[in-house]
This record gives sequence, C-alpha cells and structure tokens, in this order.
Amino acid sequence: MAKINENYLKLSKNYLFAEIGRRVAKFQAENPDAKIISLGIGDVTQPLPKVCIDAMSKAVQEMGNVKTFRGYGPEQGYKFLREKISEWNYKRHGLDIAPDEIFISDGSKCDCGNIQEIFSLDSKIAIADPVYPVYLDTNVMAGRTGNLKDDGHFEGVTYLPCTAENNFSPSPPKNKVDLIYLCSPNNPTGTTLDKAALKIWIDYAQKNNSIILYDAAYSAYISDKNIPRSIYEVDGAKDVAIEFRSFSKTAGFTGTRCGYVVIPQNLYGLTADGEKILLKDLWLRRQTTKFNGTAYIVQRGAEAIYSDEGQAEIKNLIGYYMTNAKIIRDSLSAVGLTAYGGINAPYIWLEIPKGFSSWKFFDYLLNKFHIVGTPGNGFGACGEGYLRLTSFGNREKIFEAMNRLGKI
Ligand code: MLT
Repeated sequence: MAKINENYLKLSKNYLFAEIGRRVAKFQAENPDAKIISLGIGDVTQPLPKVCIDAMSKAVQEMGNVKTFRGYGPEQGYKFLREKISEWNYKRHGLDIAPDEIFISDGSKCDCGNIQEIFSLDSKIAIADPVYPVYLDTNVMAGRTGNLKDDGHFEGVTYLPCTAENNFSPSPPKNKVDLIYLCSPNNPTGTTLDKAALKIWIDYAQKNNSIILYDAAYSAYISDKNIPRSIYEVDGAKDVAIEFRSFSKTAGFTGTRCGYVVIPQNLYGLTADGEKILLKDLWLRRQTTKFNGTAYIVQRGAEAIYSDEGQAEIKNLIGYYMTNAKIIRDSLSAVGLTAYGGINAPYIWLEIPKGFSSWKFFDYLLNKFHIVGTPGNGFGACGEGYLRLTSFGNREKIFEAMNRLGKI
C-alpha cells in the first residue's frame, strides 16, 4: 500500500468549519423543528451586484459564439481584470502596483494555503493567534511543524498572541522567523492593524529578511480612513510583503470564486547558496503548472465592480452587512456582553460569559437558542474564551437571532 503524508494526522480530524457543519447537521437531524440561524461560517447571503450579473450574462453569451468563445485563459488571469485591479485598488490610492504584479485566482483560501509551497520546508513561520486556520493547517500538512502540544500549539511554530490586552495587535517575536502571516481586518477578531503596527512588522521583516504574508481579504470593510486597506500604504512594504485580496466578501463571490495575490516585482527569496530569486517568478511557475486560471465568465463578473456603478453597488452590499454588525454589537452590549470587532470588519468577537469554554458556549447557543457561532479556540489557543459571530446573515434573521440572545 502507498504510504500517506503523515503530517495530515497531526491535524484535528475535521477542518474547523466542516466540524461545525457536522455538529449543526446532527443537531438539526435530532431536532427537525428547530429553526437554526447560522452566524457561524462567514458566508454571504445577499445576491451578486447587478453589474456582475450583467457582465457574466454577456460573457456566457460570448462563450456560445464561435467568434468570441474562449478556452484556457492565461494562468495569471486576464489582463482586463489585472489592469482594473491595478488602477482601482492601487494606483487611484497612490500605490504603484502594476498589472503584472497581480495574479488572479479562484479565491484567497487557495492562495493563502498554496503560497507556502514556494518557500523552503525549513522556513520558520510566525502566525497570529487567533487567526484564519488555513495558514497553520497548510504548514502542518507540508511538514513545517512538529506535533500538537497540550497547550494547543504546534511544535516549531512561533505564535503571535492577539488578545484584548494588546488590542489584538501582535508584536514581533524575539526570535527570527522567515514567514509571517498577518491578517487585517483580522478573521476572527474583526480588529485591524494600523500603519504604526504594520511599520513595526515591516522593519522586523527588513531586519530579518522575512516575508510578510498579508491577508487583506476583508479590506473593503474598512471605513476608518486611518486604517490601511493595503499593506503597501506603509513605507517599505513592497520590499517584504505579499498581499492577498478577494472578491468573496467584497462583492459576494464566495460561491462564484475569485481572488488575487500581489507579489511585487522586486520581492526576492534566497536559495540555500544565497542566490536571490524573484518570488513572483516562482509563483507564476507554480500557477502555470498547477492551475489553469479562473473562469473567463467569473473574471468578467469581477471586472464589473470597477466602474462607478459597480462601486456604488458593492458599497451598498458592504453597508448592509455592516449595519448587521452594528445590530449585533448593540444587542450584545444591551445584554451586558463584551464584544470586539464589527466596526471595520464583518466579524464580532464575543467574550464568553465566565464558566463556559468556547465549545461549551457553542453547544449552549445551539441547544438553547438554535444559533450557530464559531468557537474562538478553533482559530487558535488564544481564541479560547471567545466566540465569533458573523454579520453576513440576512437582516430578518439577524434581528431574530438577537431577539433570542436577548434572553441569554
Ligand atoms: C470564515 O468563516 O472564516 C470564512 O468564510 C472562511 C473562508 O473565507 O474561507
């Protein structure tokens, strides 16, 4: 029999959201009349913007005509989309990111998970705690860590605690690491990193020859003008950082799938002999081998948000979810619960009442109120004592969930 990659066995049996799905399905089967409201996985509920639907409909028609039909697209993504991203998300904000530094994909989850492949297996990694589980899980799968310890941490990983005490803003470690995963707005805490905090990380990365892997999938939710939407707003970032962005939460593409990575032109990694290699070239090499590009129809849909009409539509969409976030925050505070986030991000990080662990509180909410959240420790050991709520539900259900929680 073929031998397996035993690194997979170091992980918990199920991926966090798969485990939640399993528990919820079991509860629903046992309680068929329960009207469960999910504030768990951050999945959008509102329809795609009309501009996207129109653009995709047109693209479908093109695929049905021999003159406009398209087969394989460019692995890096169509130029029409890369040019629009460069113009609207970067150049218009004074940031010099060129279309050929942008790589279109089928979403940030894959990009955040795959990027580690272009780095050496003995790279030392640092990961915010709590944070989106994909960064850690993919490094465990690759064999970059030891086993899971009793404290909930993997051997060989530098964890960067994000707690209420440090305002959920992690500090650089004393030791040297090669790869640093940062996420702002942070999933799950819903908090953001300001320019000063990012500058400290950029200085650390410059001093230690590290690369920052900056997940900005929720950047469109930042309304505070002082919080950077892109790490490249901070001096020096182009020399040390790769940025991930997504259309999932920006324009409702969780099911449609489109995202992108920015790898600056002059960003290098080193061979064992100290030779400098462009990371952009390695990523392109990986993508051309393992990926055949995102569907033309989807890329046309994504492109459509880069117009005045498109921007107005996504502003409404984001405004809808952020009003939900405010309703959740206000309702929690009305019943005396403490919560963070939900101001520049669609996630609310609820401090669990004393006496509950994260999973116990998850069970309590599901059993008593038929509400699904995400247990904080699913995002890392420092998330114990918290539960994440998402504001991506539809308004009526958010009100109904908050009514139920009022009886907590
Ligand atoms: C989440 O709930 O954290 C996200 O929906 C997961 C994802 O974007 O993959």
